[in-house]
Parts: sequence; C-alpha cells; structure tokens
Amino acid sequence: NNVHLLVHDQLDSTNRWLMQQAANGAAHLSCAVTSHQTQGRGRRGRVWQSALGNSLTFSLLWRFDTGAAALSGLSLAVGLALGQAFAEMGVTVALKWPNDVLVEYRKLAGILIELQGDMEGPSAAVIGVGINLRLPERMLAQIDQAAIDLQSLKAEAVDANVVLGIVLKHMLQVISRFEQEGFAALVADWQAMHVYHQQPVRLLMPDATERHGVVAGVAEDGSLRVMTDAGEQRFTSGEISLRKG
Ligand code: ATP
Ligand code: BTN
Repeated sequence: NNVHLLVHDQLDSTNRWLMQQAANGAAHLSCAVTSHQTQGRGRRGRVWQSALGNSLTFSLLWRFDTGAAALSGLSLAVGLALGQAFAEMGVTVALKWPNDVLVEYRKLAGILIELQGDMEGPSAAVIGVGINLRLPERMLAQIDQAAIDLQSLKAEAVDANVVLGIVLKHMLQVISRFEQEGFAALVADWQAMHVYHQQPVRLLMPDATERHGVVAGVAEDGSLRVMTDAGEQRFTSGEISLRKG
C-alpha cells in the first residue's frame, strides 16, 4: 500500500503526465505532484487555475481489476475522502455533486478523474486533485466562479506537504473501501456532506435549458436522484450542471 511520489518542479498537467506514464506501465499508486502546474485541466475542456506555490496539484494512479463501468461512483468517493481529510485539518467542507469541494459555497478543491482501459477488463484511473492553498486576490478575481483557499480558513501556516499526506491517507482508505464494497457503502456518508441534500436545485442541461427539482440523494452508481414534476429522475455527471434552486 505504498504511494510512489513523483515530484516535479513544474508540469503542464499532473493528469496529462500521469495518463501518459500509466499507458507506459506506471505502477499502481504512482503519484505525480507539483507546486507549479501550468495547464491544469478541469472537466469538459475547462481549466484549473493555479500559479507557483499557491495550490496543491497532484494525481494518483489507481489500477482496478474491474472495468471502467464499475467506477461510476469513484469521483464521489474521492470527494468524500477530501471531505474527511479537511475535517482532520479542522475545516468543515460541503460537497457539490458530482465532485466539487466547497466552503461557504465557494470552491476550495476540484477533482478530475480520467480512465484508461475497457469497460469490462482491468482499468486504470488517474485521479487528479487540485486544492487552493493560498490564492492572491487577483487570482480569486480571475476565476469565473466563487473560490476560496485553505489558508484563509486556518490560523496556522498551511504546509503543502502536510496537506498532501493527510489527503493521500484518506484517499487510500476511502478508495480501498470503494474498491471492495462499491459506492453503496459510502452513499450515506457522502449525502451527509452534500450541500444540496434535499434542497431545491436547478439542473442546467447541455442544450442550455433548465429543469427544477429537489435533490433526493445519490444512487449507488453515483448518479444524482432528483424529484421533479415527472417523478424521480437520475442524472449522470456528464448530463447536467447543478445550481442552487
Ligand atoms: P459543474 O459542471 O459541476 O458546475 P464546474 O463549473 O465546477 O462544474 P469543473 O470543470 O468541475 O466546472 O471545474 C472547472 C471550473 O473550476 C472552471 O471553469 C472555473 O470556474 C473553476 N476553477 C478554476 N480554477 C479554480 C481554482 N483554482 N479554484 C476554484 N475554482 C476554480
Ligand atoms: C474541476 O473541478 O474541474 C477539476 C479540477 C481538477 C484539477 C486537478 S489539479 C491536478 C490534476 N491535474 C490536472 O490537470 N487537473 C487535476
């Protein structure tokens, strides 16, 4: 259960780099980390912004015996691990489905999982995590949604290495549990941290239309259960963006 740390002074994207290493046979639990990521990836071609030293950006390679089809709840599991890690640091966070980590409705951390392999065969997940440590005012203003950093929530100086150690510890625990028992074992803990649990929400569809509903929970495959006029509907993370109702 040892993590192999691969530390870089600078990388374009820890996810991009580790995906390439994974294709070339990198070991289970390889972890690429840099304090200076220049082209961080978000979901759907979006960008994760960071500059030298102001955020913790890393990616962990996890090789699964199962196919990618079994991994639909993985990104939620990772969110739960981050929630537990921040709790250990004395910071209470909320999760926003599918995988944002928020404090006061502002984004503290993001998760991006990229997969390799077949739907059935063994698969590899590159689990990317970006955590804001200390963002200068001008960067907070640049980001096109509300953001927050860990230092503003802590009296003591925040140390990236300490944060990495705590976060990896919780990721190993929670992802092992996910691997053995599936997301079903984590649903209740995840829902307890969900910022919109049983709250009214708006669902932004890819065609820019909106639907309204109340969050009923998350399913065992990680999809969002929403009570709408048409009854309970389920959405996967690719299908909608979630907003406050
Ligand atoms: P969703 O579709 O779930 O609403 P999202 O809007 O959070 O997703 P993601 O792809 O998950 O989008 O995250 C990328 C977004 O995160 C960027 O478009 C930007 O708004 C925001 N972002 C980028 N860098 C940072 C950062 N350092 N801190 C907080 N937020 C950031
Ligand atoms: C999101 O909220 O869209 C996810 C952002 C994920 C950012 C992290 S930073 C480390 C890893 N490498 C990347 O290029 N992206 C992820």
